[in-house]
Amino acid sequence: MRSKPRKTLSKPDARNAICPYFTMFPLSVPSKQLRGVGSSEWVLDPFCGRGTTNYAARLIGIPSVGIDSSPIAAAIAEGKMVDTSPEAIENACLEILANNDDVDLPEGEFWGLCYHPSTLKAIVLLRKALLQDCSSPERKALRSLLLGILHGPRNKGVPSYLSNQMPRTYAAKPDYAVRFWTERQLCPAPVEVANVVSRKAQYYFASTPPKVPFRIICADSRVLDFSKLGARFSRIVTSPPYFGMRTYVPDQWLRWWFLGGPETVVYRHPDQIAHSSAYEFAEQLACIWRNVAGACLPGAKFMIRFGGIHDRKANPKEIMLSSLREAKCQLRLLTVRSAGLSSVGKRQAEQFKRTLQTPIEEFDFHVRVEG
Ligand SMILES: C[S@@+](CC[C@H](N)C(=O)[O-])C[C@H]1O[C@@H](n2cnc3c(N)ncnc32)[C@H](O)[C@@H]1O
Repeated sequence: MRSKPRKTLSKPDARNAICPYFTMFPLSVPSKQLRGVGSSEWVLDPFCGRGTTNYAARLIGIPSVGIDSSPIAAAIAEGKMVDTSPEAIENACLEILANNDDVDLPEGEFWGLCYHPSTLKAIVLLRKALLQDCSSPERKALRSLLLGILHGPRNKGVPSYLSNQMPRTYAAKPDYAVRFWTERQLCPAPVEVANVVSRKAQYYFASTPPKVPFRIICADSRVLDFSKLGARFSRIVTSPPYFGMRTYVPDQWLRWWFLGGPETVVYRHPDQIAHSSAYEFAEQLACIWRNVAGACLPGAKFMIRFGGIHDRKANPKEIMLSSLREAKCQLRLLTVRSAGLSSVGKRQAEQFKRTLQTPIEEFDFHVRVEG
């Protein structure tokens, strides 16, 4: 079952792109913030998303903790932090697929048009096995890799994704997707899952970054007991959801299904910070800043990237400043700098002929915990 070790094909940075994520940092953002941090200092991201801060910390040999209430975010982040090899991931996949048991496939128009039946069967076998046991590093890496290839654009040559035409960044809603495929007569092609896994594992996991202590926790940062994390932090590099951006899980509903979620889109996710009003949103951020500050060493530095979306007219700068004031703890604002305009999601959305508006300005807030 063991395949021959192959030569390194990718740079260590490649692994960070294993699965896209809305409003993710480019790796350069946390990497720059963490320059000069010592290897015994701990870094925290209480809204870690796909774990960019954690991975940047790992690349420079710094221990870190990442927290996110989305199970998709936590699974992606964890997959890039584990120590494993492409061969171990390929073997974990082949071992699961060797089990040719009958499995119940999801039914309905969406599933029939999204995946070829043979591909769907392999996906369901992998889903079932990983839900039963995802404790080993290779299974964690395999899970994050599968999340990244579950849907995406169809290409002319060897397939890179398992689905019929779809964006990679978000999963189209079932009715919309069915209409899109039917109007264009797009049928799903059979895709060899093990084959795609093997090529992607060679690309994303070929190089091994330094091994560092880390924890990725799937939890709500408003209520998590930060004193139990077992570390005091000297750097926080984070980016909360932008006010109004409340679709992290519904927009990733297919990935959530793969992680054990339902076969349909669910819109209510109470573990996500609430967006009913700018005031309530700022209050919840304040609660998280208080929790985080309580787990920090005196002098710890925060960098918070925050922006807005077009749906909500509230001023992002005012929301963040109000949350920092409301935290009523030893946080001192040092600077607020423009980080320019972000165009996250635009290119991917075009694959599915959906256009997103240009996001508004983002800011970097630099804050210090006073001793
Ligand atoms: C802007 S994204 C973070 C992206 C991240 N910087 C990256 O590079 O991937 C904000 C994240 O906050 C998470 N989130 C929302 N409410 C949360 C809560 N109450 N506790 C923890 N995480 C939460 C969302 O699931 C989302 O992943």
